[in-house]
Amino acid sequence: MEIIIKPDYGEICREAAGIIQRAWKKKKSLVLGFPTGRTPLGLYEKLIELYDNGEMDFSDIVTFNVDEYLGLEETHPQSFACYMENHLFRHVNIKKENIHHLSGKPDDIEEHCRAYEMKIRRAGGINIQVLGIGTNGHIAFNEPSSSLSSRTRLEALAQESIKANAHFFQDEKEVPRFCLTMGIGTFLESRMILLLASGRDKAEAVAGAIEGPITASVPASALQLHPQARFVIDEDAASKLIRKDYYRWKYENRVKASEFLKK
Ligand code: PGA
Repeated sequence: MEIIIKPDYGEICREAAGIIQRAWKKKKSLVLGFPTGRTPLGLYEKLIELYDNGEMDFSDIVTFNVDEYLGLEETHPQSFACYMENHLFRHVNIKKENIHHLSGKPDDIEEHCRAYEMKIRRAGGINIQVLGIGTNGHIAFNEPSSSLSSRTRLEALAQESIKANAHFFQDEKEVPRFCLTMGIGTFLESRMILLLASGRDKAEAVAGAIEGPITASVPASALQLHPQARFVIDEDAASKLIRKDYYRWKYENRVKASEFLKK
């Protein structure tokens, strides 16, 4: 795992946008997995900035969103489809046909989830899977107890997630109790995972994910199994890591380390 600790939220967004931009320079038809929530908002702003400055082009980029509330129409203001449209897609030149969402109202849930997995495979798999992390260690809506090999499926929201998302709704009671989410097994097949975390309320989940045992009780700990998992986190989110000085040293010396490979 690569653990990148930055001073603040703005810096983690800049770093993550830089990683995506560099990957795009090598592969214009990049396949990206995108989350919603508060954390990726700054990343989407940076990507829009790169687009506005002519430093990135979205015309061949393909995206897959990681989850959706069950029961919400695509046009519902709190749907994740609507969030993506408002916070990223309508500001860049991504093609409609390259945007993939899970539906909040599928006719047949199991078939819809199977078809979504198939679409990811047909697109050649996900190059960079961006993720946030819940205070309970969830990734997308893979709540504690999710199988580490789970696939795209119906999931019930944990109480912490209902509370965390309540501010997007008028009332906590309006937060849907069920969702469709890509699975942990689905994420583990992507080429690179980029997990962003900011703030002290994420510190415990981040420490559990990086330094705790691999367990379904902390779904993000499954990323320890991934050979290209990068945690881009700010000082507050890193505050409970025991070995943070080592991670910092290792990251700062990565250029020096790569010299050994050239010899
Ligand atoms: P947040 O959510 O970015 O709104 O904190 C993260 C998550 O639940 O994955």
